[in-house]
Amino acid sequence: MSIFRKKSIGAMIDEALATDANGLRRSLSASNLVMLGIGAIVGTGIFVITGQAAAMYAGPALTISFIISAVGCVLAGLCYAEFAAMIPISGSVYSYSYATIGEGIAWFIGWDLILEYLFAVSSVAVGWSGYVVSLFSDVGLHLPDHLIHATLEHTQEGGWFFSGSIINFPAVFIVAIVSALLMGGIKQSAWVNNIIVAIKVAVILLFVGFGLSYIDFANYIPYIPENTGTFGEYGWSGILRGTGVVFFAYLGFDALSTAAQEAKNPQRDMPKGILISLLICVILYVAVTTVLTGIVNYKDLNVPAPLAMAIDSVKELNWLAPFVKLGIVAGITSVILVMMLGQTRIYYAISKDGMLPRIFSKVNKKTGAPQNATIFACIISGLVAGLFPLHVLAEMVSIGTLLAFTIVCVSVVVLRKKQPNLRRPFKVPFVPVIPLLGAAVCLLQMAFLPLATWLRLIIWMAVGMVIYFAYGYRHSKLNKR
Ligand code: ALA
Repeated sequence: MSIFRKKSIGAMIDEALATDANGLRRSLSASNLVMLGIGAIVGTGIFVITGQAAAMYAGPALTISFIISAVGCVLAGLCYAEFAAMIPISGSVYSYSYATIGEGIAWFIGWDLILEYLFAVSSVAVGWSGYVVSLFSDVGLHLPDHLIHATLEHTQEGGWFFSGSIINFPAVFIVAIVSALLMGGIKQSAWVNNIIVAIKVAVILLFVGFGLSYIDFANYIPYIPENTGTFGEYGWSGILRGTGVVFFAYLGFDALSTAAQEAKNPQRDMPKGILISLLICVILYVAVTTVLTGIVNYKDLNVPAPLAMAIDSVKELNWLAPFVKLGIVAGITSVILVMMLGQTRIYYAISKDGMLPRIFSKVNKKTGAPQNATIFACIISGLVAGLFPLHVLAEMVSIGTLLAFTIVCVSVVVLRKKQPNLRRPFKVPFVPVIPLLGAAVCLLQMAFLPLATWLRLIIWMAVGMVIYFAYGYRHSKLNKR
């Protein structure tokens, strides 16, 4: 059946490595890639979710949750690294599966990646909005209520209603600003990202460095608070639930693989970019969580800005508070930037293959940016960010990402079997154990997500299939051949 038609890997590698005057530009060095990785990873997860997860699920043992979650991400990260070095093309998993499994599945995965990056941009923009609104109110500026909340709200029972707010304006605003930056090209975007990453890493190091001496060891006792009797509320089940929750904090290293076609030396540098940025983040996260739960008792950490709160609680560190808040706002901005980059590159790659209209792969000659894809991503992400509440968006991000991770892990095994002789500049060790373990960890985490999230995923995928058969299948470049 022709939905299983495949692109040849050789042709794809040639396409990826060719320097095409009308294509994306190769300007990212290895250090740019590491910085982009950190830019995409460190954000709402560590700055907001850490406090809530410690308070509600794991207590000081959230550090263990971070380590377990990191193991799953490193397994998937290794698989991403193998593919990104072998097929350094902007479509990431979409392109890898076009070569390994076939077009229908590739489209399905591309559509899933659109879900992941679209909802990631929107949910992080909503988180950004929350922080900025609170910063403004710190200095006595109160934005009108009908401009800072989602238009639609969601009840516990699953119903939707109008909240009375017009739109979440700051969320729409930041999406527009980041899109404008991306329109200027990858070089400019990477430069701004480098500055932001320097600021946020500095803020984290300051927090850890100064916070260390204010740790009260009594806060670590008990390290694993006793389970309340409800699954997931402290104890080991709480640590496991915490693992699923902090998974969000590691997302972003995968978005880096969509920039492979813009790396100067992708075969050498993509694995470095993915794995080094992920490892740096694991170290930063474990350090922050240890200090945070050491300064403040976990029971008091369920607040929107836990790091700022920890600093406020130590008089000698009060001078650090404005820097931390500003660093956090900047830090969250770069997550939006790289996730947005990922979204535009997926539109670009699918459109190049003919399954989305060609206008999406048009690149601006002056800036090298896929301008129509960027404008489209801006409009859609801005709308979603302005209309929907955070928790619905975040759950969609997790399920979409876990699905993509699972597919990458399985694809490594499939391709090793089918095409054992391909040149692999980076190889996952112990195949098939590591990829299959990675897939299993991801599937397990998906299983714990709410039913409503699964239903939304199924509806999203069904819409994707309709678009494929109505448009993509017939317009695909492979069909024309
Ligand atoms: N890892 C990203 C964050 O925590 C998605 O904001």
